[in-house]
Amino acid sequence: MQLPPLPWLLLLLLLLLVHLSSSSFIHPASSQSSFIYHGFNSPASTNLTLTGIARVTPNGILKLTNVSSHQIGRGFYPDPIRFKNPDSQNDVVSFSTAFAFSIHPKFQKLGGHGLAFTVSPTKDFPGAQPSQFLGLLNVTLNGNTSNHLFAVELDTVQDLEFSDIDNNHVGVDINRMKSVNATPAGFFVDGNSTKLPLCLHSGRMIQAWIDYDGSNRQLDITLSGFVRQNKPATPIMSIPIDLSAVFHDEMFVGFSSSTGVLTSSHYVFGWSFNTTGKAKSLDHDLLPSLQPLKKKNKGFVIKFSTSLILAVFIVVISGGAYVIKKFKTKEVVESWELDLGPRPFSYKELKDATKGFNEKHLLGFGGSGTVYKGVLPDSKAEIAVKRISGKSKQGQKEFLSEVLTVGRLRHRSLVPLLGWSRNKGELLLVYDFMANGSLDKYIYSDNDPKMILTWGQRFKIINDISNGLLYLHEEWEQTVVHRDIKAGNVLLDSDLNGRLGDFGLAKLYDHGSNVATTTRVVGTLGYLAPELTRTGKPTTSSDVYAFGALLLEVVCGRRPVELKALPEELIGGETGAYSRSWTRG
Ligand SMILES: *[C@@H]1O[C@H](CO)[C@@H](O)[C@H](O)[C@H]1NC(C)=O
Ligand SMILES: *[C@@H]1O[C@H](CO)[C@@H](O)[C@H](O)[C@H]1NC(C)=O
Ligand SMILES: *[C@@H]1O[C@H](CO)[C@@H](O)[C@H](O)[C@H]1NC(C)=O
Ligand SMILES: *[C@@H]1O[C@H](CO)[C@@H](O)[C@H](O)[C@H]1NC(C)=O
Ligand SMILES: *[C@@H]1O[C@H](CO)[C@@H](O)[C@H](O)[C@H]1NC(C)=O
Ligand SMILES: *[C@@H]1O[C@H](CO)[C@@H](O)[C@H](O)[C@H]1NC(C)=O
Repeated sequence: MQLPPLPWLLLLLLLLLVHLSSSSFIHPASSQSSFIYHGFNSPASTNLTLTGIARVTPNGILKLTNVSSHQIGRGFYPDPIRFKNPDSQNDVVSFSTAFAFSIHPKFQKLGGHGLAFTVSPTKDFPGAQPSQFLGLLNVTLNGNTSNHLFAVELDTVQDLEFSDIDNNHVGVDINRMKSVNATPAGFFVDGNSTKLPLCLHSGRMIQAWIDYDGSNRQLDITLSGFVRQNKPATPIMSIPIDLSAVFHDEMFVGFSSSTGVLTSSHYVFGWSFNTTGKAKSLDHDLLPSLQPLKKKNKGFVIKFSTSLILAVFIVVISGGAYVIKKFKTKEVVESWELDLGPRPFSYKELKDATKGFNEKHLLGFGGSGTVYKGVLPDSKAEIAVKRISGKSKQGQKEFLSEVLTVGRLRHRSLVPLLGWSRNKGELLLVYDFMANGSLDKYIYSDNDPKMILTWGQRFKIINDISNGLLYLHEEWEQTVVHRDIKAGNVLLDSDLNGRLGDFGLAKLYDHGSNVATTTRVVGTLGYLAPELTRTGKPTTSSDVYAFGALLLEVVCGRRPVELKALPEELIGGETGAYSRSWTRG
């Protein structure tokens, strides 16, 4: 059969046109529907779009944030992903992702703030805030349906304004930071229906899987606590959810993370994503590791023998020194000596007393440092040790002389300073341990009837504090302005006597402090006298103003300020901000 050449040519031309239009005009983004990366700098890896302080480390780990405060870091897949097929109306296709991450908090027990797997119409989130907003939204954007934002948050701070369930949870966020569903982080071991708890900010690597079934409109989230564990059969969250109104046809996928006053380093080690099937789980052995690679020792034998000799030598010397020291300086501190005024402690003594600053002994965390409980080895006296780091030698000297001047003050309504110690860049202040902790715990113990103070007790505490304040202001040879009177600085001893703590410490912020969140104005929001923000000069009157706020707080059990905006919006130095926030409370 012979066809004339012209129709053949026309047919070919037509086919070519159809092909061209379908490949380059209908799907301009040519969205890739699956990828898997073990580390982000192998030649096969794409270049993630990084914003904020996010970096890819030399060995390929996506480091979203470090421990600097109030930072945002994001890493997004550079090209948009197609989530809706043109022929299936508005349905969102199934998608599946797996990633390995770890969170290393600055202070062992306190993560800040977390990271979120995010699907969004943009990669750069204009106006987004750090802290509780995880770099995704801000106060005005929060809740607006035109955000088209879907996020699975791995949240390590409990933000009450978003009704967070705890400080270690997985939550699904749609257009707002308040999760539509949340569950404490945990995982299942196959064949056992007990959910095991999982600490997100332990610094250990955790693998997470997020699977959305487009036809059944169901979202499953699974975590695994052991890096080598296969994907557990049971998800920790399995909820019906319809994403068709949230997703556009094409969206960007990636991770967003932020820090606030509390901070963590957030890392992502590997990531797989798939819209055509289940995402492959990551292979632990292929993932980059945070630990630097150990080099093999060539001269092992030589090094071993020299170090052996050295070790024997050191043992002999230090053993001798120890024996001599034992004989020479066996000084036992009697408990009465603690009453004579602040004295230097040895670093080792404090280290032993707090079992090496064990996190089990952590009492609290404040702008000026972390506080540990300890028991002095010899006298068995209970102490509280405040650990302040990051001071220069000069800063330490000035700070100490100030603390010690004030530390000589003795009054039954002040928490006595027992002494101090210095260790390299660190300053340790030793206080008497107050058995009942700080007053704010009692005022805001919503559902624990044991903890609620009677009127008599409240009156006594207020009275004690006013006595202490009068002493600081008028009865000592110099006038001492406390500068940070608040419920958190009122401590209760074993008989529930109120005692003012941290006096003089507020001055700490003056000397080139590295506490980034405290600005020129010293004090705590809600307790600041209005004129302070203008003059910046603390006086006995501004102390009395703060005392007034404390009084109201103790009487009515409400915070002076209930934060509805970000701390950085309030402590911005704008004078108006304070009065505005005050009227809100
Ligand atoms: C990533 O970026 C580098 C430098 O801009 C470029 O040389 C490289 O080709 C990019 N890799 C890919 C996979 O796009
Ligand atoms: C965190 O990263 C930023 C940007 O790379 C850097 O400027 C800052 O010094 C880092 N902070 C710490 C504590 O390493
Ligand atoms: C939140 O972000 C939007 C969009 O960038 C901006 O218009 C708005 O002013 C921001 N709101 C706040 C409180 O920062
Ligand atoms: C939601 O965002 C859109 C676009 O940014 C804006 O026009 C609208 O006013 C916002 N709605 C609310 C309730 O804030
Ligand atoms: C399931 O795990 C829990 C906690 O590890 C354990 O106490 C329990 O015995 C296990 N149950 C079964 C059936 O293995
Ligand atoms: C995506 O799913 C398809 C179908 O199950 C599978 O062949 C492919 O390997 C998956 N890709 C990734 C990166 O997980």
